[in-house]
Amino acid sequence: LNFEIRPTANPTPETERAAKLSNLGFGQVFTDHMAVVRYSTAKGWHSARVESRAAFALDPATAVLHYAQEIFEGLKAYKRDDGGVNLFRPDANARRFWNSAERMAMAPLPEHVFIEAVEQLVRIDHDWIPGGEGSLYLRPFMIANEVFLGVKPSAEYIFAVIASPVGSYFKGGPAPVSIWVSENFTRAAIGGTGAVKCGGNYAASLRAQAEAIEHSCDQVVFLDALERRYVEELGGMNIFFVFDDGSLLTPPLGTILPGITRDSIIKLAREAGREVREDTYSIEQWRADAASGKLKEAFACGTAAVISPIGKVRSPHGDFQINGGAAGPVATGLRKQLVDIQYGRAADPHEWIRKV
Ligand code: PLP
Ligand code: COI
Repeated sequence: LNFEIRPTANPTPETERAAKLSNLGFGQVFTDHMAVVRYSTAKGWHSARVESRAAFALDPATAVLHYAQEIFEGLKAYKRDDGGVNLFRPDANARRFWNSAERMAMAPLPEHVFIEAVEQLVRIDHDWIPGGEGSLYLRPFMIANEVFLGVKPSAEYIFAVIASPVGSYFKGGPAPVSIWVSENFTRAAIGGTGAVKCGGNYAASLRAQAEAIEHSCDQVVFLDALERRYVEELGGMNIFFVFDDGSLLTPPLGTILPGITRDSIIKLAREAGREVREDTYSIEQWRADAASGKLKEAFACGTAAVISPIGKVRSPHGDFQINGGAAGPVATGLRKQLVDIQYGRAADPHEWIRKV
């Protein structure tokens, strides 16, 4: 599958691009191009292109608009000091995308096509990668494109990658975030779609996230759907706990998204000699450990959020603070270690970096 590269006839003027890049939040600014690959059961994956970013025309009966057969990924391109560009573990995103497609009965995309699409887009939109602590957030996604109202797997798909230069996901930058414990809503049950990255998971999280915002919190944290006790993850991030003996704990895989940041942190922490357990942790225990001082830190992690310390937890059963509401040394240290690898400032013994 060869990508046909069609540079846009109307690139954003340099001054306008510079103005946009000088004031970045998350996901509001987009680059000039997109990568698109199409699938049909008859032709397989075909028509791979990098072209001007433009609207899709969808028939009102297009399957994705009705039954939500949609999956996505999120990864970042980082500008190195020498001007080169790093991708962080794109092979892991490609594999997770394959798993998501299988769970949603969609046509799995060969991993090398996923990576090639991402790399071609990063090359053509290279000038949109912010310097400093910014990055280019890449959003591969796939939608069911068959025009048919029967409930069955679509016979046609569109895979596309768009790119958005980003700064910090949270308005407060690296400052500790506050989280709201959702008691009214759960995210995922055993046998459901919690472990894959489908749009429906996020649609279902929005009411809970709205509750978090109503309670002046940055993010929602979900408890398990069965016992409604065990901490699972945030709306868009995994979670870690740090104890007074220096050990770490993170909820086990199963109904949570297997975060690539989560996996990287587990490896980095273990290599540094820390014990890391993947085990259940109840909200009652969390509250008790925060009160007794056994719990030293908690942090959220993900591609968008990087590593964000959790300073405050609110729930209908009362609020509590962690580490006096301040960022702690373990989260801060792990964040620096991870970000230094991503930007090419530190050695990369795991071969996580792919240079573009
Ligand atoms: N959990 C959820 C629900 C997410 O949306 C994300 C973000 O992708 C993560 C965890 C973290 O995953 P990753 O570290 O691969 O970005
Ligand atoms: C990511 O970190 O890539 C995500 O998809 C999370 C989302 C909240 C932006």
